[in-house]
Amino acid sequence: MTQTPLTIGVLGAGRVGTAVARQAVRAGHTVKIATAKPAADIALLTEVIVPGATAVDREDLRGADLIVLAVPLHKYRSIDTAVLRDRVVIDTMNYWAPVDGFMDEFETGTSTSEVIAEFLGGARVVKTLNHIGYGDLEIDSYPAGDPQRRALAVAGDDAAAKALVQDFVDSLGYDAVDAGPLAAGRAFENGTEIFNGRHDATRMQELLSECSRVLANA
Ligand SMILES: NC(=O)c1ccc[n+]([C@@H]2O[C@H](COP(=O)([O-])OP(=O)(O)OC[C@H]3O[C@@H](n4cnc5c(N)ncnc54)[C@H](OP(=O)(O)O)[C@@H]3O)[C@@H](O)[C@H]2O)c1
Repeated sequence: MTQTPLTIGVLGAGRVGTAVARQAVRAGHTVKIATAKPAADIALLTEVIVPGATAVDREDLRGADLIVLAVPLHKYRSIDTAVLRDRVVIDTMNYWAPVDGFMDEFETGTSTSEVIAEFLGGARVVKTLNHIGYGDLEIDSYPAGDPQRRALAVAGDDAAAKALVQDFVDSLGYDAVDAGPLAAGRAFENGTEIFNGRHDATRMQELLSECSRVLANA
């Protein structure tokens, strides 16, 4: 890894949380993973599914350089906001009514991550890793410069937080394309071309530009 190793916290030990955690361990980061339950409840799962990571109580994520939020969106109100206060937080969550149930706040056209950022208060929220299947994270990972390298979009309002997350995404094996502010995260939500596909950095940039033109004229 060319970047400085980070301490990565992962909140949520399901499909996405464990897949990101595995990839982060592989990239050389220190990884701590937690749910709302005591660490002991996920200790065995962590040992087997994410060797090299440490299961912790959620309060122990507080010192992490960044925290990956991988909880089902319909449960967002149960998230312990104190753990995430002032932290750089990657929002991987998606809204899909057939799974999450109909939720008024996600039906307004505002990006889901803006709703989450408002709920979390002080957290420095960056949206990414929501538009890649958990099962693809490992197999689509390529070193920088590889022609097969896939791009992932990264949106956020805090420039320093976004830069840190872009470096992290790069360390996982992806070109991190700046999508603009958190509101621009709509361009890679469920149902968009970006959400559904594998794209290189050039095509990703084109798709993001097309989408921002459409949103500006809406
Ligand atoms: N599936 C994909 O390929 C994919 C890809 C990108 C993004 N996403 C998005 O990622 C999010 C997570 O999806 P998933 O498939 O990983 O879900 P999942 O497999 O159901 O796992 C959810 C995890 O979150 C934990 N959790 C629930 N409430 C919590 C809380 N209040 N605080 C801390 N942890 C909590 C659960 O713990 P318990 O088991 O103890 O409840 C579980 O470990 C969703 O919004 C999804 O749309 C999914």
